[in-house]
Amino acid sequence: MTNQRLLLGATLTYSGNPMQSAWEDAVQIDSAGGVLIEDGHIAAVGNGEKLRAAHPQAEVTRYSDALICPGFVDAHVHYPQTAIIASWGKRLIDWLNSYTFPEEMRLSDPAYAEQIAARYLDLTLAHGTTTVASYCTIHPHSADALFQAAADRGQRIVAGKTCMDRNAPEGLRDTVQSAYDDSKALIERWHGKGRSSYAITPRFSPTSTPEQLSALGALWAEHPTCLMQTHLSEQTDEIAWVRELYPDARDYLDTYETHGLLGERGLYGHAIHLEPREIDRLAEVGGALVHCPTSNTFIGSGLFDMTGLAKRNIPLALATDTGGGSSFSMLRTMAAAYEVGQLRGTPLHAAQLIWLGTAGSARSLHLQDQVGSLAEGMEADITVLSLDSTSAIAQRHGAAKDIWESLFATIMMGDDRAVKDVWVAGKRIGQDT
Ligand code: GUN
Ligand code: ZN
Repeated sequence: MTNQRLLLGATLTYSGNPMQSAWEDAVQIDSAGGVLIEDGHIAAVGNGEKLRAAHPQAEVTRYSDALICPGFVDAHVHYPQTAIIASWGKRLIDWLNSYTFPEEMRLSDPAYAEQIAARYLDLTLAHGTTTVASYCTIHPHSADALFQAAADRGQRIVAGKTCMDRNAPEGLRDTVQSAYDDSKALIERWHGKGRSSYAITPRFSPTSTPEQLSALGALWAEHPTCLMQTHLSEQTDEIAWVRELYPDARDYLDTYETHGLLGERGLYGHAIHLEPREIDRLAEVGGALVHCPTSNTFIGSGLFDMTGLAKRNIPLALATDTGGGSSFSMLRTMAAAYEVGQLRGTPLHAAQLIWLGTAGSARSLHLQDQVGSLAEGMEADITVLSLDSTSAIAQRHGAAKDIWESLFATIMMGDDRAVKDVWVAGKRIGQDT
């Protein structure tokens, strides 16, 4: 007989998209719910006691003062920047040159890349994040290190070798040909293998020649099931630089489109200072925009228009942007998204925030049938949030009129201490593994 595990407690489930309809119609909490796990997948979700009666052989784990959620999905990170997170005082281009590039250079040592990949995944799992979409460095072994570390932990992962052939220091540049060849070899090695997907990764238009962007566009056309991840319109001086480097482009997005890098499986990080034409085009094509709120305030980039872009039906994801972002925690990231919404006069509800950090990100990564929600047939990646993890949160939880107020307090004030348990493909991290 197969091993069955039944998690009992409050469960969070989705029946729609709370960015498109009223959140009450899209997101549900069942205070007496259950999730049945079998062979690494979710076999059933429903009333806890009914599931217990129907599956008396299942081993039971009972959670109180907690919420059983999908594992968090972080749609834009740079794992190589783990060790330089929270570096002081620079804006984007200076920050890249002062902190990021020197650290990314250190990953030329494969042993260091392996050490950082393992450290990064352990840190993020401790924060309840079960899937990330990560940039690596230009070194192909940095992608191997992350894919292998994820495979060792049984994790679903999206990653790609970063490509840069100009405006980066010696030692951090590839070429048109090596970017194409190395990315292609990595696709063949990792894409669709186990729980891994490959994202073709031109860092951003300023660090690629038009020829490199074209080569990567051609590679994407040859491997259309791959994702493509890059940066778009993060800071105003960056946009001015792109205008100088690509004088014929209509706008920043056009530098990608003319080179075959605009598509439904595209992931465009930041996307703060968009022109109306860029928004129209993204709405037509369906590429996803990734909101990185702690990064956008930390590096001083600006306020992403989550609510306005949601009205245009553009797929939206949430991300830490480690290490431009100032936290590994998707709870802290949801809190920052709330605060940015407040500054724009459009605060998001707890149901929208948690949906964005799970199903919204999963959908943007085209993984909505595998991860990001608790439903039959999904892979059993589950994060159990404690709703009373610190004395400050516990006293607010005690005064809450309903579980949504409790969840909101944990979103706003919680961190890794709020993560009671993490299940990856049906195995409890730290206990079953
Ligand atoms: N734009 C190009 N590279 C990066 C990066 O590493 N982090 C951020 N936040 N923006 C970028
Ligand atoms: Zn980034």
